[in-house]
Amino acid sequence: REMSDSKPRKVFFSRQLPGVALDRLAAEADVTIWPKADAPTPDELSDVVRGCDAILTLLSDAVDGRVMDAAGPQLKVISNYAVGYNNIDLAAAKQRGIQVGNTPDVLTDATADLAATLMLAASRRVAEAADDVTSGRWQNWEPAGLLGVEPSGKTLGIIGMGRIGKALANRMVGGWKMNLIYTSRRDQTDVNESLSGRRVELDELLRESDFISIHVALCEATRKLIDAEAFAKMKSNVVLVNTARGEIIDQDALLDALDTCKIFTAGLDVTTPEPLPASHPLVQHQRCLILPHIGSATTTARSAMTEIAVDNIIAGIQGKSLRCPVTL
Ligand code: DGY
Repeated sequence: REMSDSKPRKVFFSRQLPGVALDRLAAEADVTIWPKADAPTPDELSDVVRGCDAILTLLSDAVDGRVMDAAGPQLKVISNYAVGYNNIDLAAAKQRGIQVGNTPDVLTDATADLAATLMLAASRRVAEAADDVTSGRWQNWEPAGLLGVEPSGKTLGIIGMGRIGKALANRMVGGWKMNLIYTSRRDQTDVNESLSGRRVELDELLRESDFISIHVALCEATRKLIDAEAFAKMKSNVVLVNTARGEIIDQDALLDALDTCKIFTAGLDVTTPEPLPASHPLVQHQRCLILPHIGSATTTARSAMTEIAVDNIIAGIQGKSLRCPVTL
Protein backbone atom coordinates (compact mmCIF):
# COMPACT_ATOMS: atom_id res chain seq x y z
CA ARG A 1 0.00 0.00 0.00
CA GLU A 2 1.14 3.54 -0.73
CA MET A 3 1.29 6.30 1.86
CA SER A 4 -1.38 8.18 -0.06
CA ASP A 5 -3.98 5.53 0.89
CA SER A 6 -6.67 7.05 3.05
CA LYS A 7 -6.26 4.60 5.93
CA PRO A 8 -3.55 5.94 8.28
CA ARG A 9 -0.59 3.72 9.01
CA LYS A 10 -0.39 2.34 12.53
CA VAL A 11 2.89 2.33 14.39
CA PHE A 12 3.62 0.98 17.87
CA PHE A 13 6.53 2.20 20.00
CA SER A 14 7.42 0.01 22.96
CA ARG A 15 8.92 3.10 24.68
CA GLN A 16 8.92 6.86 24.39
CA LEU A 17 12.20 7.91 22.74
CA PRO A 18 14.34 10.97 23.37
CA GLY A 19 14.78 13.47 20.52
CA VAL A 20 12.40 15.24 18.18
CA ALA A 21 12.17 12.81 15.26
CA LEU A 22 8.88 11.42 16.48
CA ASP A 23 7.13 14.57 15.28
CA ARG A 24 8.09 13.68 11.72
CA LEU A 25 6.50 10.29 12.08
CA ALA A 26 3.35 11.63 13.72
CA ALA A 27 2.67 13.47 10.46
CA GLU A 28 2.75 10.15 8.60
CA ALA A 29 1.11 7.64 10.92
CA ASP A 30 -0.92 7.02 14.05
CA VAL A 31 1.68 6.37 16.70
CA THR A 32 0.88 4.51 19.90
CA ILE A 33 3.46 4.52 22.68
CA TRP A 34 3.52 1.91 25.42
CA PRO A 35 2.34 3.87 28.44
CA LYS A 36 3.69 1.82 31.34
CA ALA A 37 7.02 2.11 33.11
CA ASP A 38 7.68 -1.63 32.79
CA ALA A 39 8.33 -3.05 29.33
CA PRO A 40 5.47 -5.06 27.76
CA THR A 41 5.56 -8.80 28.40
CA PRO A 42 5.62 -10.99 25.26
CA ASP A 43 1.85 -11.48 25.58
CA GLU A 44 1.21 -7.77 26.02
CA LEU A 45 3.46 -7.03 23.05
CA SER A 46 1.54 -9.48 20.85
CA ASP A 47 -1.65 -7.84 21.95
CA VAL A 48 -0.71 -4.21 21.32
CA VAL A 49 0.97 -4.68 17.93
CA ARG A 50 -2.21 -6.03 16.32
CA GLY A 51 -2.90 -4.20 13.05
CA CYS A 52 0.42 -2.31 13.05
CA ASP A 53 2.37 -1.48 9.90
CA ALA A 54 5.54 -0.83 11.89
CA ILE A 55 6.90 -1.60 15.34
CA LEU A 56 9.62 0.23 17.20
CA THR A 57 11.32 -2.17 19.59
CA LEU A 58 14.00 -2.00 22.25
CA LEU A 59 16.70 -4.59 22.85
CA SER A 60 14.63 -5.79 25.82
CA ASP A 61 11.67 -6.74 23.59
CA ALA A 62 11.81 -10.30 22.27
CA VAL A 63 10.28 -10.19 18.80
CA ASP A 64 9.58 -13.65 17.40
CA GLY A 65 7.30 -15.04 14.72
CA ARG A 66 4.42 -15.12 17.20
CA VAL A 67 4.61 -11.35 17.72
CA MET A 68 4.93 -10.79 13.96
CA ASP A 69 1.87 -12.95 13.27
CA ALA A 70 -0.07 -11.23 16.02
CA ALA A 71 0.64 -7.91 14.28
CA GLY A 72 -0.75 -9.28 11.04
CA PRO A 73 0.25 -9.54 7.39
CA GLN A 74 0.37 -5.74 6.92
CA LEU A 75 3.44 -5.50 9.21
CA LYS A 76 6.22 -4.11 7.03
CA VAL A 77 9.04 -3.09 9.31
CA ILE A 78 10.53 -3.73 12.73
CA SER A 79 12.76 -0.86 13.72
CA ASN A 80 15.06 -1.81 16.59
CA TYR A 81 16.30 1.08 18.72
CA ALA A 82 19.79 -0.42 19.06
CA VAL A 83 22.69 -1.49 16.90
CA GLY A 84 22.36 -5.05 18.24
CA TYR A 85 19.38 -7.10 17.05
CA ASN A 86 19.71 -10.43 18.83
CA ASN A 87 16.23 -9.82 20.29
CA ILE A 88 14.65 -10.20 16.85
CA ASP A 89 14.09 -13.48 15.05
CA LEU A 90 15.55 -12.50 11.69
CA ALA A 91 14.60 -15.76 9.97
CA ALA A 92 10.97 -15.25 10.98
CA ALA A 93 11.07 -11.68 9.65
CA LYS A 94 12.60 -12.79 6.36
CA GLN A 95 10.02 -15.52 5.96
CA ARG A 96 7.25 -12.97 6.37
CA GLY A 97 8.83 -10.31 4.14
CA ILE A 98 9.27 -7.90 7.03
CA GLN A 99 12.23 -5.50 6.93
CA VAL A 100 14.34 -5.06 10.08
CA GLY A 101 16.29 -1.88 10.85
CA ASN A 102 18.90 -0.97 13.47
CA THR A 103 20.78 2.17 14.56
CA PRO A 104 24.51 1.71 13.90
CA ASP A 105 27.38 4.25 13.86
CA VAL A 106 25.75 7.04 15.86
CA LEU A 107 26.37 5.21 19.14
CA THR A 108 29.92 4.07 18.37
CA ASP A 109 31.70 6.90 20.21
CA ALA A 110 29.38 6.82 23.21
CA THR A 111 29.80 3.06 23.62
CA ALA A 112 33.58 3.15 23.11
CA ASP A 113 33.77 5.95 25.69
CA LEU A 114 31.89 3.78 28.16
CA ALA A 115 34.14 0.77 27.47
CA ALA A 116 37.15 3.02 28.16
CA THR A 117 35.45 4.31 31.31
CA LEU A 118 34.90 0.75 32.52
CA MET A 119 38.50 -0.20 31.72
CA LEU A 120 39.83 2.68 33.78
CA ALA A 121 37.26 2.46 36.56
CA ALA A 122 37.67 -1.29 36.97
CA SER A 123 41.46 -1.13 36.83
CA ARG A 124 41.53 1.53 39.56
CA ARG A 125 38.79 -0.12 41.64
CA VAL A 126 36.71 3.04 41.52
CA ALA A 127 33.44 1.45 42.69
CA GLU A 128 35.13 -0.18 45.67
CA ALA A 129 36.92 3.07 46.53
CA ALA A 130 33.76 5.19 46.29
CA ASP A 131 31.99 2.63 48.45
CA ASP A 132 34.67 3.05 51.13
CA VAL A 133 33.85 6.74 51.25
CA THR A 134 30.04 6.47 51.28
CA SER A 135 30.08 3.64 53.85
CA GLY A 136 32.42 5.53 56.20
CA ARG A 137 35.10 2.82 55.91
CA TRP A 138 37.64 5.40 54.73
CA GLN A 139 39.86 6.07 57.75
CA ASN A 140 43.40 6.73 56.58
CA TRP A 141 45.48 7.37 53.50
CA GLU A 142 46.94 3.90 53.09
CA PRO A 143 50.20 3.44 51.17
CA ALA A 144 49.09 -0.02 50.11
CA GLY A 145 45.36 0.67 50.01
CA LEU A 146 43.17 0.10 46.94
CA LEU A 147 46.07 -0.55 44.60
CA GLY A 148 45.06 -0.87 40.98
CA VAL A 149 46.70 -1.73 37.70
CA GLU A 150 47.69 0.65 34.89
CA PRO A 151 46.76 0.27 31.23
CA SER A 152 49.73 2.24 29.86
CA GLY A 153 52.06 0.01 27.91
CA LYS A 154 49.98 -3.11 28.64
CA THR A 155 48.32 -5.37 26.11
CA LEU A 156 44.70 -4.73 25.22
CA GLY A 157 42.82 -7.64 23.66
CA ILE A 158 39.70 -6.62 21.79
CA ILE A 159 37.31 -9.44 20.98
CA GLY A 160 35.52 -8.32 17.82
CA MET A 161 37.12 -5.50 15.83
CA GLY A 162 34.05 -3.80 14.41
CA ARG A 163 33.09 -0.15 14.67
CA ILE A 164 33.04 0.02 18.47
CA GLY A 165 36.12 -2.18 18.88
CA LYS A 166 38.04 0.15 16.56
CA ALA A 167 36.86 3.26 18.37
CA LEU A 168 38.04 1.79 21.69
CA ALA A 169 41.36 0.76 20.10
CA ASN A 170 41.86 4.34 18.87
CA ARG A 171 41.30 5.69 22.34
CA MET A 172 43.48 3.21 24.23
CA VAL A 173 46.36 2.92 21.75
CA GLY A 174 46.36 6.64 20.96
CA GLY A 175 45.91 7.85 24.53
CA TRP A 176 47.32 5.13 26.75
CA LYS A 177 49.87 3.65 24.37
CA MET A 178 48.53 0.15 24.87
CA ASN A 179 49.68 -2.73 22.66
CA LEU A 180 46.79 -4.04 20.61
CA ILE A 181 45.76 -7.56 19.69
CA TYR A 182 42.32 -8.47 18.45
CA THR A 183 40.09 -11.19 17.07
CA SER A 184 38.14 -10.59 13.91
CA ARG A 185 36.80 -12.62 11.03
CA ARG A 186 39.29 -10.84 8.77
CA ASP A 187 42.47 -8.84 9.08
CA GLN A 188 41.73 -5.14 9.65
CA THR A 189 44.55 -3.53 7.69
CA ASP A 190 43.70 0.00 8.89
CA VAL A 191 44.02 -1.18 12.51
CA ASN A 192 47.24 -3.05 11.78
CA GLU A 193 48.76 -0.03 10.07
CA SER A 194 47.57 2.91 12.15
CA LEU A 195 47.42 1.25 15.58
CA SER A 196 50.03 -1.49 15.18
CA GLY A 197 47.29 -4.00 15.91
CA ARG A 198 47.74 -7.72 15.37
CA ARG A 199 44.92 -10.14 14.59
CA VAL A 200 45.21 -13.32 16.66
CA GLU A 201 43.14 -16.39 17.50
CA LEU A 202 40.98 -16.14 20.62
CA ASP A 203 43.28 -18.50 22.53
CA GLU A 204 46.28 -16.24 22.01
CA LEU A 205 44.26 -13.16 22.91
CA LEU A 206 43.18 -14.78 26.18
CA ARG A 207 46.74 -15.81 27.04
CA GLU A 208 48.42 -12.49 26.13
CA SER A 209 46.03 -9.73 27.19
CA ASP A 210 46.19 -7.64 30.35
CA PHE A 211 42.90 -5.97 29.53
CA ILE A 212 40.12 -7.66 27.52
CA SER A 213 37.14 -5.84 26.07
CA ILE A 214 34.26 -7.61 24.32
CA HIS A 215 32.78 -6.12 21.13
CA VAL A 216 31.16 -9.00 19.25
CA ALA A 217 27.48 -9.38 18.51
CA LEU A 218 25.55 -12.03 20.44
CA CYS A 219 24.80 -15.11 18.35
CA GLU A 220 25.02 -18.86 18.92
CA ALA A 221 28.79 -18.79 18.24
CA THR A 222 29.44 -16.10 20.88
CA ARG A 223 27.01 -17.22 23.60
CA LYS A 224 29.17 -18.01 26.68
CA LEU A 225 32.30 -17.42 24.60
CA ILE A 226 34.01 -16.41 27.83
CA ASP A 227 33.51 -19.53 29.92
CA ALA A 228 35.54 -21.33 32.62
CA GLU A 229 37.95 -22.64 30.00
CA ALA A 230 38.53 -19.11 28.69
CA PHE A 231 39.13 -17.73 32.17
CA ALA A 232 41.63 -20.54 32.83
CA LYS A 233 43.70 -19.36 29.85
CA MET A 234 43.88 -15.74 31.02
CA LYS A 235 46.85 -14.16 32.74
CA SER A 236 46.34 -13.25 36.37
CA ASN A 237 45.31 -9.64 37.07
CA VAL A 238 43.31 -9.27 33.88
CA VAL A 239 40.69 -6.53 33.72
CA LEU A 240 37.65 -7.76 31.76
CA VAL A 241 35.14 -5.36 30.22
CA ASN A 242 31.86 -6.13 28.49
CA THR A 243 29.73 -3.50 26.77
CA ALA A 244 28.26 -5.90 24.17
CA ARG A 245 25.74 -8.43 25.52
CA GLY A 246 25.67 -10.16 28.89
CA GLU A 247 25.15 -13.65 27.46
CA ILE A 248 28.66 -13.61 25.95
CA ILE A 249 30.11 -14.21 29.42
CA ASP A 250 29.31 -17.29 31.50
CA GLN A 251 28.49 -15.42 34.71
CA ASP A 252 29.06 -18.43 37.00
CA ALA A 253 32.54 -18.77 35.55
CA LEU A 254 33.11 -15.02 35.97
CA LEU A 255 32.06 -15.18 39.60
CA ASP A 256 34.44 -18.06 40.17
CA ALA A 257 37.28 -16.19 38.43
CA LEU A 258 36.66 -13.16 40.66
CA ASP A 259 36.31 -15.24 43.84
CA THR A 260 39.54 -17.09 43.19
CA CYS A 261 41.30 -13.84 42.14
CA LYS A 262 41.96 -15.43 38.76
CA ILE A 263 41.11 -12.07 37.22
CA PHE A 264 41.65 -8.67 38.80
CA THR A 265 38.35 -6.93 38.15
CA ALA A 266 35.42 -6.87 35.77
CA GLY A 267 33.50 -3.91 34.37
CA LEU A 268 30.14 -4.85 32.89
CA ASP A 269 27.58 -2.66 31.18
CA VAL A 270 25.57 -5.73 30.23
CA THR A 271 24.45 -8.77 32.22
CA THR A 272 22.11 -11.75 32.13
CA PRO A 273 19.37 -10.98 32.98
CA GLU A 274 18.94 -7.24 32.87
CA PRO A 275 18.44 -5.95 35.43
CA LEU A 276 20.60 -8.28 37.47
CA PRO A 277 18.95 -8.47 40.92
CA ALA A 278 20.73 -6.35 43.54
CA SER A 279 21.23 -9.49 45.63
CA HIS A 280 23.14 -11.28 42.83
CA PRO A 281 26.69 -12.19 43.95
CA LEU A 282 28.19 -10.32 40.98
CA VAL A 283 26.37 -7.13 41.96
CA GLN A 284 27.60 -7.58 45.52
CA HIS A 285 31.14 -8.44 44.44
CA GLN A 286 33.71 -5.79 45.38
CA ARG A 287 35.72 -6.40 42.23
CA CYS A 288 32.84 -6.29 39.80
CA LEU A 289 31.54 -2.94 38.60
CA ILE A 290 28.14 -3.22 36.96
CA LEU A 291 26.32 -0.46 35.08
CA PRO A 292 22.70 -0.57 33.85
CA HIS A 293 23.37 -0.92 30.10
CA ILE A 294 24.19 2.74 29.45
CA GLY A 295 26.69 2.34 26.60
CA SER A 296 24.73 4.52 24.18
CA ALA A 297 23.23 6.75 26.87
CA THR A 298 24.27 10.21 25.70
CA THR A 299 21.87 12.85 24.44
CA THR A 300 23.77 12.97 21.15
CA ALA A 301 23.70 9.23 20.54
CA ARG A 302 20.14 8.61 21.66
CA SER A 303 18.72 11.52 19.62
CA ALA A 304 20.58 10.31 16.54
CA MET A 305 19.32 6.76 17.18
CA THR A 306 15.77 8.13 17.24
CA GLU A 307 16.36 9.85 13.89
CA ILE A 308 17.53 6.61 12.29
CA ALA A 309 14.82 4.49 13.90
CA VAL A 310 12.14 6.88 12.64
CA ASP A 311 13.71 7.06 9.15
CA ASN A 312 13.69 3.25 9.10
CA ILE A 313 9.99 3.21 9.97
CA ILE A 314 9.01 5.83 7.41
CA ALA A 315 10.93 4.05 4.66
CA GLY A 316 9.57 0.68 5.74
CA ILE A 317 5.91 1.68 5.73
CA GLN A 318 6.46 3.26 2.31
CA GLY A 319 7.84 -0.05 1.07
CA LYS A 320 11.29 1.47 0.43
CA SER A 321 14.62 0.10 1.59
CA LEU A 322 15.59 1.24 5.04
CA ARG A 323 18.20 3.82 5.96
CA CYS A 324 19.95 1.22 8.12
CA PRO A 325 18.73 -2.25 7.16
CA VAL A 326 19.75 -5.45 8.88
CA THR A 327 20.71 -8.07 6.32
CA LEU A 328 18.17 -10.88 6.49
C1 DGY B 1 22.73 -1.44 21.25
O1 DGY B 1 22.54 -0.47 20.51
O2 DGY B 1 22.78 -2.59 20.80
C2 DGY B 1 22.94 -1.17 22.69
O3 DGY B 1 22.98 -2.29 23.45
C3 DGY B 1 21.97 -0.17 23.23
O4 DGY B 1 22.16 1.04 22.59
